[in-house]
Order: sequence, then C-alpha cells, then structure tokens
Amino acid sequence: MKKVKLGVLVSGRGSNLQAVIDNIEKGTVSAQVAVVISDQPDAFALDRARKHNLPAVHVSAKGYKGKRDEYDALLEQELRKHGVELVILAGFMRIITKVLVNAFPNRIMNIHPALLPSFPGLHVQKAAIEHGVKFSGCTVHFVDEGMDTGPIIIQAVVPVLDNDTEDTLAARILKQEHRIFSRAIHLYAEGRLTVKDRRVFVSGPENKSGEFLINP
Ligand code: GRF
Repeated sequence: MKKVKLGVLVSGRGSNLQAVIDNIEKGTVSAQVAVVISDQPDAFALDRARKHNLPAVHVSAKGYKGKRDEYDALLEQELRKHGVELVILAGFMRIITKVLVNAFPNRIMNIHPALLPSFPGLHVQKAAIEHGVKFSGCTVHFVDEGMDTGPIIIQAVVPVLDNDTEDTLAARILKQEHRIFSRAIHLYAEGRLTVKDRRVFVSGPENKSGEFLINP
C-alpha cells in the first residue's frame, strides 16, 4: 500500500504527533511524516520530530497579525515543498483560512477533544464537566473554514465520572485521541473515506463506521 505523505502542524507538546509516529513505526498506519511545522519556536513537538530524524520547521507567525491568509500561504509553500498529500492538525492552535482549505480540499484532518458539534473551541473538557454531560470523547474531522465544523470521520466516546477534574477527563480522552487519529489517517491511506455533503462514509468489506462508538 502507498504511504501517504503527511504534513503535521503543531503548536505544543505533540503527544498526538508522537502517537502517529509510533503507529507508523509499528506498521499500523500506512504513512510517512514528510514534515512537522510549528508556529511556536519551542514546541516540544519539534523535539519529538527531530528525535525521529523527521524534518521539523518553525514557521513564525510574527508580523502576520491580521494577515492570516498570508501566513497560511507560507504554510502551503512549506507543505508543498515536502510533497505533502494529507495535512494533520495535531494541537495546532491557529484557525486556518480558506487559503489552506482550498489548497488541500478534504485533505486536512483535525483532532478535537470533545464530541462535536458539542463543545467546539477551547477548554472543552472543563466545559463538558461544567455542563454535566455523562459522556464526552474526541472527534477526528476534515477541516473546513469554520472552527471545528468540518465533516466528521471518527468519534470515540468516554464516560464523564462524578469525580472527574479537567485533567482526569482530558487524560481519558487523550488516550482515545491517540487511537482514532491514527486510525483515520490509515483509512485515508487505504482510500476508504468518501465525503458526501457533510457525511463521511467508510467503504470496504467490513463497513465499520461505528467501530469506535463505545469504548469500555
Ligand atoms: C489535544 O487535546 C487535541 O485534541 C487538541 O489539542 C491537544 C493537543 O495535544 N486539538 P498534543 O499536542 O497532541 O499532545
């Protein structure tokens, strides 16, 4: 099977990036990380990439305040330079513009630590606890121009326990993030994802769209 060339955009600790790298090395994800790009110079994610001898680049957003299109054009340039086919937003703390969305239509994936469309945005584990939901989880979706609004590829569900804090819930969700992000990338690599309107269908002999629905 072909290895999909990934461009991974990060801003911070990069645990999702690490999970993808580990799964590629294990052979469960048919991909290669072509480049890791951070908007933050000291993102730990960059160290992780370098440790695995992967190209790691800081693209500074300094001087691009109010010029998000221009910054995204820089990102596009860097991604194309490395022959990227699929862009992975792994804790990238910027909203991307139509420049990037149009450059990679249905070829940008994001991981979000809540069951979208509930709780888009930031600090969502805290918001889920405060709202009193009994289940939360995470969502891998294709990226459109909205914030956390694109077509949903996979979701995983976790319980919210009475004594949960933001940190304990985030940790439970993160474990699932590490699993489903890699799974979504692999399904893409296998050519099994089709987007119709807002819906993403998973083709194949075993149609397992719901396989990640409930996690014990
Ligand atoms: C994750 O919780 C992800 O869902 C959100 O940002 C966080 C990034 O964590 N978009 P990491 O940098 O991958 O460890």
